[in-house]
Amino acid sequence: MKYNRLGRAGLKVSELSFGAWITFGPQLDLAATKRTMRLAFDRGVNFFDNAEAYGGGEAERLMGAALKDFKRSDVVVSTKIYWGGKGPNDKGLNYKHLVEGTYAALERLDLDYVDLLYCHRPDDDTPIEETVRAMDFLLRSGSAFYWGTSEWSAEQIEGAHRAAKELGAAPPTMEQPEYNLFNRDKIEREFAPLYERYRMGTTTWSPLASGILSGKYDQGIPKGSRLDRVEWLREYLTPDKVAKTKKLAVVARELECTTAQLAIAWCLKNPNVSSVILGASNEKQLEENLGAAAVRDRLSDDVRKSIEALCA
Ligand SMILES: NC(=O)c1ccc[n+]([C@@H]2O[C@H](COP(=O)([O-])OP(=O)(O)OC[C@H]3O[C@@H](n4cnc5c(N)ncnc54)[C@H](OP(=O)(O)O)[C@@H]3O)[C@@H](O)[C@H]2O)c1
Repeated sequence: MKYNRLGRAGLKVSELSFGAWITFGPQLDLAATKRTMRLAFDRGVNFFDNAEAYGGGEAERLMGAALKDFKRSDVVVSTKIYWGGKGPNDKGLNYKHLVEGTYAALERLDLDYVDLLYCHRPDDDTPIEETVRAMDFLLRSGSAFYWGTSEWSAEQIEGAHRAAKELGAAPPTMEQPEYNLFNRDKIEREFAPLYERYRMGTTTWSPLASGILSGKYDQGIPKGSRLDRVEWLREYLTPDKVAKTKKLAVVARELECTTAQLAIAWCLKNPNVSSVILGASNEKQLEENLGAAAVRDRLSDDVRKSIEALCA
């Protein structure tokens, strides 16, 4: 496993990490959470991703309980604030919710601090200066070490840097965007100037587009799979994506790996990706997906270009 600096930060994150969205709770109970986190850690993963919104806080409780078996300094833990509840001040990036949401998340995780704290979405209803001041406060008071954004535009990230400079506050260090063979634009084009200008780090999500890129939906929606369980995700399963995934499977066979491993290894080839956050609903999937690190070196530039052409 390779460890990358998170952008300009001195912090090192494993190139593959493990996240809790949708799985921790409904699919992975405490025993399974412990087993999967241990498996990931034993294979070199040091970064575990979470959010206040995941399972209404249950994902943080489970991760916190599993973290009892680890030395705190061995792991990098994140959470994300935005969707904290139904009240008028339980949502968004206003000062009150950022601080109260972070304190509540820390309580559920049973941690004194998270390493990485994200603003889970941009918030047009809050002035950027207010958000930057709140994140700066949380860093200075020790609740988090680095702050970042998730699914912000390049323009919004630039705005945060400008505000931080004017206020003498800590700027964002990393962004968490979706990145997979079906969604490349933000990471590859929109964010391109930010890597040089700010040495922005990225922790990317849904490397398998919710499992579609594993090929599991090639013959329809299997019972119990994510798209069977989560109705709103089904709109992302299009005939075009299924056709592309089938073509990827041919390349994967030639490289003697699985389609999922090929799709994840492709993400790892991008030098602007600090860590690819894996999702898995059981140990078998996680084991397979962790194998992508070994597949990365089989992807020559020619192979990479040919898969990109297949998925264009
Ligand atoms: N910042 C954000 O807004 C944001 C948004 C989404 C995710 N994230 C983060 O990114 C992490 C990963 O995202 P993701 O879960 O969407 O990743 P993903 O890899 O695109 O999808 C993971 C899902 O695909 C299926 N799967 C995984 N490996 C498989 C395999 N080898 N064979 C067959 N099926 C397989 C499993 O679902 P089933 O078994 O249930 O079918 C698994 O839960 C999340 O946990 C979260 O931490 C962040």
